[in-house]
Amino acid sequence: MKQIKLAVIPGDGVGVEIMPYATKVLDAVADLHGGLKFEHEWYPYSCEYYLEHGEMMPRDGLDQLSQHDAVFLGAVGNPKLVADHISLWGLLINIRRGFKQTLNIRHAKQLRGIQPMVTNPGGFDLIVVRENSEGEYSEVGGRIHSGEDEVVVQNAVFTRKATERAMRYAFDLAKTRKGHVTSATKSNGIVFSMPFWDEVFEQVGQDYQDIEKRTAHIDALSAFLVSKPAEFDVIVASNLFGDILTDISAAVMGSIGIGPAANLNVDGTHPSMFEPVHGSAPDIVGRGIANPIGQIWTGKMMLDHFGESELADQLLTIVEDVTESGMKTPDVGGNATTGEVSEEIISRIKQLT
Ligand code: NAD
Ligand code: IPM
Ligand code: MN
Repeated sequence: MKQIKLAVIPGDGVGVEIMPYATKVLDAVADLHGGLKFEHEWYPYSCEYYLEHGEMMPRDGLDQLSQHDAVFLGAVGNPKLVADHISLWGLLINIRRGFKQTLNIRHAKQLRGIQPMVTNPGGFDLIVVRENSEGEYSEVGGRIHSGEDEVVVQNAVFTRKATERAMRYAFDLAKTRKGHVTSATKSNGIVFSMPFWDEVFEQVGQDYQDIEKRTAHIDALSAFLVSKPAEFDVIVASNLFGDILTDISAAVMGSIGIGPAANLNVDGTHPSMFEPVHGSAPDIVGRGIANPIGQIWTGKMMLDHFGESELADQLLTIVEDVTESGMKTPDVGGNATTGEVSEEIISRIKQLT
């Protein structure tokens, strides 16, 4: 029996509503396999936890989580209770950095039964490789002056190692797909980091002669992503650009609520973390209408990560069978609840057992 030990962190908002269903889906998929079992341990780290304990997770939180094979996370953030920079840096970014999850892989493709933003007869299928450890998300800077002449400096940090790592991953991934990589740049406006980014793309690209390479400025790229998503295969982007592109790519599929993501520890020293693209969605919390597909598809990416690609593909096929049947949450044009969509997915998995 293959056992995968999961640290489950529902987090805040819709994360709490979706996670019980998403873990049930994973358990049903494991039963389908027969020789696979998920062991889950639940952790209450969240904004509520912060109010009680004064921190988003205990001092030895990372040690506890490191006892598991992977972290399965819902969403973090309840700005009414705790400022976002405290909750997100205390938990989500703390885990990404602490566990050296240097890449964030986010898939977007046209799903059966979900109306995409723009109709594409042949569909589209793209993956964004987001640098996940540095870039614009840096702690270098500060408030320099106050008062009338107030000045705040926020630096961005780009290392050759991390930049190369993201690009190599993107090129290697493209080899297994349609064979092209688009680099998101802004070297026309940002004078240090982005010319460096272009230079590394060019250099690393020389090792990948068979891959078609494109470079596009982030502004134009964002527009193309909406109007012509089918033209992309793999996109490699800095931390912030990748963040923005992947809310867009999820919306292009039909809803932010369906985008999956994997925060990968590529050197194998720590667990990877799987969490959807979307956040805690405070505007719809408590109504039972959050789309569970982002979290469930994220579970599919986790199955791929653990070498269970056949099972992973079966899961996504069932998700699409369900959306195609019309059983969908309101964000993608249906009137079903989180529970109804999830239970339908579970019951179809069980029919195969
Ligand atoms: P958000 O992704 O939570 O919501 C953006 C929009 O998408 C909202 O209209 C929301 O209702 C909708 N949406 C999101 N998930 C959905 C789902 N599953 N089903 C249907 N609709 C869904 O982004 P936001 O409003 O900018 O952020 C809310 C909070 O979440 C903030 O505290 C933010 O910092 C945090 N956040 C956390 C993560 C994370 O934990 N990975 C990611 C993004 C935002
Ligand atoms: C995401 C989120 C986070 C990010 C925030 C909440 C810090 O938007 O995972 O996409 O910017 O990385
Ligand atoms: Mn984001």
